[in-house]
Amino acid sequence: MAAPLQGYTDAAWRQAHARIYGGVGCYYTPFARVEKGCVRAKDVRETALTDSYTLVPQIIFRDITEFDILVSALAAAGHKRIDLNLGCPFPPQVHHGRGAGALVRRDLMQQVATRINELPDMKFSIKMRLGVDSPDQWRESADIIAAMPLTHVTIHPRIARQQYSGELHTGEFAEAAAAMPHPVVFNGDILTPADIDRLLAMPHVEGVMAGRGLLARPSLAVEWLNGRQWTRDERVSAILSLHAEVLEARAGRLCGDTQILSAMRPFWDFLEAEIGHKCAKAIRKAGNMAKYTSAVASIG
Ligand SMILES: Cc1cc2nc3c(=O)[nH]c(=O)nc-3n(C[C@H](O)[C@H](O)[C@H](O)COP(=O)(O)O)c2cc1C
Repeated sequence: MAAPLQGYTDAAWRQAHARIYGGVGCYYTPFARVEKGCVRAKDVRETALTDSYTLVPQIIFRDITEFDILVSALAAAGHKRIDLNLGCPFPPQVHHGRGAGALVRRDLMQQVATRINELPDMKFSIKMRLGVDSPDQWRESADIIAAMPLTHVTIHPRIARQQYSGELHTGEFAEAAAAMPHPVVFNGDILTPADIDRLLAMPHVEGVMAGRGLLARPSLAVEWLNGRQWTRDERVSAILSLHAEVLEARAGRLCGDTQILSAMRPFWDFLEAEIGHKCAKAIRKAGNMAKYTSAVASIG
């Protein structure tokens, strides 16, 4: 599965990735959220259903009112599955009780559990961390989550304080996975097809979700599925095709070099090892589309 990454795995990237690499089991959208009492218009657009690939929208919420607003909007847009973000580590979100902050609030988790039971036509999954400040905090809501009728639970075995780096708490992950009656999906630091094999051999792990690893190596899933590692030439050639499609889609809704460049630079954030420092630097420094296009053309 492809992890959601705000600012990276937008509809343009997902559509192009699915077409060029044959897709993954499921793409999750970056979280949709409530702003001034409504779902943001951009989030409605970004979570629009498509026939091109399997898409599950994700929501982040700080109370049951936000949960209800988001779930109703997605149900009205035809969605049958929703992923609940209980892992976002950004301090402003956590302090408001969203993301990883929601995971440690038994009252909210109980309200969510009640609501999920009232909505039998909607399938829910959870994407969570192990805690906010300590890797055993998942235990605070574990019994409530275990009783929810979820399709699966994805666990990123870090705590919010770690953000996206540092040690993975594999021992605590194993205990959390064993405590869940649902299928468990491992998420975190998956970089190679061998990582996928290794993780799928762990007890209770029934799936994997890759984020930065898939951005750094967009062929990761297809290489694993077909049991054949691609050569660097194959990988770079496919990345250039992916880039061309993402550029066309993003440029189509933006205007002017500045907007397009700021939408496109992140595409390369995790690709420096693949394209080399020199090209990555030229792309970062390109001040207009002509320089950007020539920097991309120098990748080889
Ligand atoms: C820039 C950025 C944005 C992210 N946005 C989201 C998000 O919207 N929803 C979510 O559940 N996780 C989000 N994540 C977390 C990833 O989905 C994933 O859990 C994390 O990066 C660890 O997996 P990885 O090592 O495979 O990247 C984000 C991570 C990063 C670095």
